[in-house]
Amino acid sequence: MPKLASYNGKVDSIENIKVSPMSRAFLFSDSVYEVISFYKNKFIDFETHLDRLKHSLNETKISCSIEECKTEIVKLLNESKFEDGYIYYQVSRGVDSIRSHFAEESDCERFGFIEEFSFFNQSPLKVMLVDDIRWQRCDIKSTSLLGNVLQMNDAKSVGCNEILMHKNGELTEGGASNIFFVKNKTIFTPELSPNILPGITRHQVIKIIKDQKLNFEEGSYGIDDLKEASSIWFTSTTKGILGVEEIVNLETKINTECELLEICKNAFVKRYFS
Ligand code: PDD
Repeated sequence: MPKLASYNGKVDSIENIKVSPMSRAFLFSDSVYEVISFYKNKFIDFETHLDRLKHSLNETKISCSIEECKTEIVKLLNESKFEDGYIYYQVSRGVDSIRSHFAEESDCERFGFIEEFSFFNQSPLKVMLVDDIRWQRCDIKSTSLLGNVLQMNDAKSVGCNEILMHKNGELTEGGASNIFFVKNKTIFTPELSPNILPGITRHQVIKIIKDQKLNFEEGSYGIDDLKEASSIWFTSTTKGILGVEEIVNLETKINTECELLEICKNAFVKRYFS
């Protein structure tokens, strides 16, 4: 079945969608995005994703109606036959007549597509610890992901499927996920800051940890904390909660059978996937 996509509100098979090379998304990555999952035809935390999209639009001063985005995302789901999957949806500042860093006064440009995806039985992650070489506003879900892409492709070349980033030794997040780790029976995660994306799954997992009354701390952590960690987890809309089996360039004390990870995973599946 051809992949369905939406371009400025018009739904069509992705092969039929034509985008101008003068799009500011194409020339400058001048765009923001969301990845929203759905299970049994229902979005998971839809309004929270829309709120974050609104935050990204506000912070980048891209003018776009969030109601219009919502309508288009819903339409894409309704017109697809997929039960479980996710929608990728991005908004750019628009299409200009000449290439200039200074934007013209144009309408925003919206593009999204729907993908079938199964959230279960994903393998544990093999990750590489890398320098966080990104910009200073990682709280904005921007499509400017060159810092992530370069490091993730280096990691892929040595058999990894994620990276774990640090900025001058301070842990930030994964290439496309937030991080948690367990040390001395307490679960830790880096606190929110402009250096990390406020992940929606991160927020869901924190709620679960608190409901389950598990020991939990948010703060600033370093590479030495990772060395002592008995379990490391990555969270994202597509990964859910996934454990790490190995950091290829760091000696750790990871035990892949972590009771706290199982408690959180089970509660997560129960809350969002049943
Ligand atoms: N990425 N940090 C980064 C850098 C991310 O790109 C993502 C998600 C997350 C987790 O956010 P959430 O739990 O809201 O999905 C954290 C998406 C899935 C992507 O780019 O494909």
